[in-house]
Amino acid sequence: MAVSFDLGQTDHLLTTTRAVRKRLDLTRPVSRDLIVDCIRIATQAPAGGNVQMWRWLVVDDPDLKAGIADLYRRSYAPYMQAQRDAVAQSGRTDVQAIMQSSDHLASVLHDVPALVIPCQIGRPDPNMAQGNLAGLYGSILPAVWNFMLAARSRGLGTAWTTLHLGFEQEAAQLLGIPENVAQVALTPVAFYTGDDFKPGARLPAEKVTYFNRWKQH
Ligand SMILES: Cc1cc2nc3c(=O)[nH]c(=O)nc-3n(C[C@H](O)[C@H](O)[C@H](O)COP(=O)(O)O)c2cc1C
Repeated sequence: MAVSFDLGQTDHLLTTTRAVRKRLDLTRPVSRDLIVDCIRIATQAPAGGNVQMWRWLVVDDPDLKAGIADLYRRSYAPYMQAQRDAVAQSGRTDVQAIMQSSDHLASVLHDVPALVIPCQIGRPDPNMAQGNLAGLYGSILPAVWNFMLAARSRGLGTAWTTLHLGFEQEAAQLLGIPENVAQVALTPVAFYTGDDFKPGARLPAEKVTYFNRWKQH
């Protein structure tokens, strides 16, 4: 008989794994063993041809974290200024919280216990066909999300980030990552403060789902 999951628990995990920025506990150490446990779960994710061309770089050395955080901030500053200009023009008021939370993460990134950089062995070719590109990223990004879910269920907060990739080569140099390896994200990892998280704001499923033909609800 098929195992029946506790949907209350699994749906709670899936709907409340948030981008944690302000609630990262910067004072509580995270053991390498715990991170490797999460990576063990992460690597059950699918990969095209089950090739598993992933490597997980866990950065917990203070000097290296500081170097990566500097690269992140170099990308963050112009990106955030562009965001602020766009928000000011549009008159939107619903994005202040996320901007403040993003500012906070950028300012404390070097103090987060660990920065995890999932890497794909094999870089995308600029002329790669869409199918191959989808195959390349699709062979690692599900594992990254698995990692974040496993972390969350162990009391760890994470946030998917990509801004340091604006200086990917500099990060590669700092961390000794070979030329044929693509960094695909960076997630801070820390225990989270407070008890729980709520589901985030999302478009209704009925609105974003079509049946059989485009725009057919
Ligand atoms: C591909 C991708 C790139 C992202 N890059 C960043 C980033 O560089 N910095 C950051 O603070 N958040 C980043 N985020 C996090 C998003 O801002 C976050 O997932 C979104 O606001 C939804 O937040 P929630 O999951 O807590 O509801 C990224 C998310 C994704 C999926």
